[in-house]
Amino acid sequence: MSKIKRIGITTGGGDAPGLNAVIRAVTKSAIKRGWEVFGIRNGFDGVMYPDKFPDGGLIKLDSDAVRGISHMGGTILGTTNRGNPFNYQVKGPDGKVEKKNLSDQLVDGIKEAKLDAIVSLGGDGSMAIANEVAKLGIRIIGVPKTIDNDLAGTVATFGFDTAFAFATDAIGRLHSTASAHQRVMIVEVMGRYAGWIALYAGVAGTADVVLIPEIPFDIEKVAAKVEERNRNGRNFTIICTAEGAMPIGGEAIYKEQGGIKNLGGIGEAIAEDLRGRVSNQVRTVVLGHLLRGGMPTARDRLLSFRFGAAAVRGLEAGKSSVMVALDPPTVKYIPLEECTKRIKVVQLDCDTIATARDLGTCLGD
Ligand code: F6P
Repeated sequence: MSKIKRIGITTGGGDAPGLNAVIRAVTKSAIKRGWEVFGIRNGFDGVMYPDKFPDGGLIKLDSDAVRGISHMGGTILGTTNRGNPFNYQVKGPDGKVEKKNLSDQLVDGIKEAKLDAIVSLGGDGSMAIANEVAKLGIRIIGVPKTIDNDLAGTVATFGFDTAFAFATDAIGRLHSTASAHQRVMIVEVMGRYAGWIALYAGVAGTADVVLIPEIPFDIEKVAAKVEERNRNGRNFTIICTAEGAMPIGGEAIYKEQGGIKNLGGIGEAIAEDLRGRVSNQVRTVVLGHLLRGGMPTARDRLLSFRFGAAAVRGLEAGKSSVMVALDPPTVKYIPLEECTKRIKVVQLDCDTIATARDLGTCLGD
């Protein structure tokens, strides 16, 4: 295997706190080995469409470029969740969007940029893309990012801890206003098809009801919990729902824009349903993209540094087509193939679920 001299870093999918910290760790670890580092703009767009960018789609990353970025949310490289090179959305002259396989363009772009290897920071979509890119003969290593914590094969993804902390704080703040007005406050959090954010923040923030996709809920049970609290003189209720939660026999709720469907709206649907069943006023708060913003927590920053440095050590050791994964007390490398087969959802026999039940939290079942 040829020696690495120059690597590229790409950030794909929804942003998550910690991306810049990983970029710093990869850059510093690579520079230490005498490698050059380039950031690819907006997923793989920077190498597929270099002419679209005034700087040619690549940002030279040196110690100066990554100084003081670790605490920043977002990504200095930009990202996209419409940039799958194997299924790229291209607008035709008639304005119609077509999906095309631009993988040849991608490989040519990577070769043109003289990148010997790629570090790909992303969630399950980005890891699936990285897996296909590896099959085209490109050396690539994945780093697991997502606030959803739903990537299989790793105990945690970076970004999750920050989202969890923010959601917990938000639930804490809702207590005072809910209590003051004797209301039901519903807080909807992101997480796609996994209930990690809702469960962790709901339990830590002492929500009275926690609804997750893994446990379809019965609205009667939720209403009964509200009324039970009213009877006990606790005239307010906090409900924390995952965006992917659904009623028994029902379906998750999506919003559509430009042919793309995103989860969202279950909080208000629950509110509507509850309004006819309980005596309290019901209000909804959607945390949405706030969960992805802001400074990464200390835990996320450390995890990001560990992942970034491990990605470079992995490349140096000749690894490719693998993802760095947290396996306390250390990190390991797992085949990309493995982490893209399924998502990691909350196991119903885990102790956090048992804790919720022991503490009297209603899980909607
Ligand atoms: O995967 C991260 C995530 O924030 C999900 O929790 C959410 O469903 C989705 O991305 C929202 O994506 P978008 O950036 O397209 O609104």
